[in-house]
Amino acid sequence: MAAADIPKEKKVIYNFVGSSGLRVSNICLGCMTFGRSVHLGTPTQQNEDSSHQIMDRFVQWGGNFFDTADIYGPHYSEQIVGRWLERRERDNFVVATKCNFPIGVAQNRNSVGLSRRHMTASITGSLQRLHTNYVDIYQTHSWDAGTNIEETLRTFDDLVRAEKVRYVGLCNVNGWQLQKIVDTSQRLGLNPVVSLQQQYSLVCRESELEPFQVCKANGIGVLPWSPLKGGLLTGKVKRGLKPKEGRLAHVAESKWLKGRGGEAFPQWTRFSDKDFDVLETTEEIAKEKGRSVAQVAIRWLLQKDVTTSVIIGATSFAQLNDNMGAANGWSLSQAEMDRLDKVSAVAKFYPYSSINEGNAQRSNPMARDYVVRSKI
Ligand SMILES: NC(=O)c1ccc[n+]([C@@H]2O[C@H](COP(=O)([O-])OP(=O)(O)OC[C@H]3O[C@@H](n4cnc5c(N)ncnc54)[C@H](OP(=O)(O)O)[C@@H]3O)[C@@H](O)[C@H]2O)c1
Repeated sequence: MAAADIPKEKKVIYNFVGSSGLRVSNICLGCMTFGRSVHLGTPTQQNEDSSHQIMDRFVQWGGNFFDTADIYGPHYSEQIVGRWLERRERDNFVVATKCNFPIGVAQNRNSVGLSRRHMTASITGSLQRLHTNYVDIYQTHSWDAGTNIEETLRTFDDLVRAEKVRYVGLCNVNGWQLQKIVDTSQRLGLNPVVSLQQQYSLVCRESELEPFQVCKANGIGVLPWSPLKGGLLTGKVKRGLKPKEGRLAHVAESKWLKGRGGEAFPQWTRFSDKDFDVLETTEEIAKEKGRSVAQVAIRWLLQKDVTTSVIIGATSFAQLNDNMGAANGWSLSQAEMDRLDKVSAVAKFYPYSSINEGNAQRSNPMARDYVVRSKI
């Protein structure tokens, strides 16, 4: 398909990543579905040819931003992206990858975590597989309780100085962890964190309470992952019915996810009645606007002020085109945003339930922590 069938006004727009000078398309192509997945074992993973076609089509939409990880496959996703990248103008694209999770021989006790040893070994492997000299955003895949944060941040800083990495990013942290990372980085005068990749969607909003407040106050751009909750927010999963096909029909059976924070990974067995209430409101709005459910769900994220770029996943051309249709040329009205915000609101518990009330009369835009205090 030629790029000519996508009108200019529907193509992506480009946002700065947090307060950095790096610009990326407002939709990022997630590459987790590229190549065999030993861990997820899902049947809709894409082979190399079809992955490359999806990447080409994404570029026709104006996309310049790809997200992968050493653990995807493991390694297959980075290899597929690398073999595409080596035949393109590397500098036109922004490539993000991640490290931390254990890969390879179990007896190598150092093949895991965010130690200097593992991070330097990981980036060397990622650069080889990606056929590039540098990664634009290098991200911790999760917190590592086994390494002092100073060691991780100094290693990041050295990787930037060595020109192997351009920017520092994080994934999957809670509020105190993110604040500690930001404070430590500032105290040591290191290259700052520019992005936070966090699961964020109409049915996963808990990060608004803490991590995103730290992001707002510190110029860190949010990159939501699983924006469709693995496929729930497309309308193809119905209340009370086990999905028959696609990733959601399989992922609950992944043994690898157990014990690795996998309970957070989208799984139909964990969808609640409230999730289906949210889905139904999203479906109503989609119908009223003549849009797909996926487009409304992605658009809601794009209109959140913390969002830099939404990381989509697609296992077909049709899914890619559908999701890219959220990028530009239309928007949700304030009333529609309010409806979606209301049905998907996270139930507030102590201390969050009392923080706003206590500060209602104390909003001072000149105060350093105004953003944090006023929006929780
Ligand atoms: N940092 C992290 O810890 C982390 C974790 C997970 C993901 N990520 C990143 O985020 C990216 C996206 O995550 P995700 O794949 O979980 O996103 P998602 O949007 O929640 O789910 C994508 C899946 O939903 C289905 N789908 C997508 N668009 C559809 C459409 N328009 N209509 C119907 N079905 C559709 C496809 O699965 P089926 O065709 O199989 O049904 C697709 O693989 C990943 O590729 C990865 O780069 C990061």
